[in-house]
Amino acid sequence: KVKTAVLISGSGSNLQALIDAAKDDAWPAGIALVISNKADAYGLTRAERAGIATMVIDHRDYDGREAFDTAIDDALQDHAIELVCLAGFMRILTADFTTNWKGRMLNIHPSLLPSFRGINAQKQALDAGVKISGCTVHLVTPDLDDGPIIGQSAVPVKDGDTVETLSQRILAAEHVLYPECVGKYAGWMREYGG
Ligand code: GAR
Repeated sequence: KVKTAVLISGSGSNLQALIDAAKDDAWPAGIALVISNKADAYGLTRAERAGIATMVIDHRDYDGREAFDTAIDDALQDHAIELVCLAGFMRILTADFTTNWKGRMLNIHPSLLPSFRGINAQKQALDAGVKISGCTVHLVTPDLDDGPIIGQSAVPVKDGDTVETLSQRILAAEHVLYPECVGKYAGWMREYGG
């Protein structure tokens, strides 16, 4: 299996979807490491329950983004990680780090990119009055939420939706889309990668 790390900052419900997918022997990625920049992220508990190695790398312990990203990179190298999945990881990564992991790092974003990049994507969608939103899995490049798209899933925006209700509907779509895309991409890495 493709040795995969998942980077989180919070609940880790997408991490859970990946952990569940990895139980299938035919799914080509194996979750070998979970890194959180927050010590109280519930996703760490999910990883521990699944017997996956965890690390807390708190950005506040580092003097600047470069030092923080270097610590993450060191951890990924130590574990011989081949593929990185960002799953609700709420730190912007440096251009150097994203370039190092070019073609080997995926992100899930709660909008139909290229609409609504950055934070509070669900609120941006509500404010814009769009009637369809969704989620996107894409390769990570130095520009925020901008890399080549691997997959998307659309959901309706309903009358009376709040950030909470729309976020929940998008999240349910994320839990299907992310395992699909990670499985597809890891399979491609094995079949066509160098
Ligand atoms: C998800 O909706 C994910 O798309 C979003 O954070 C949530 C994490 O939920 N990510 C971003 O907004 C990245 N900019 P989870 O921790 O339950 O997977």
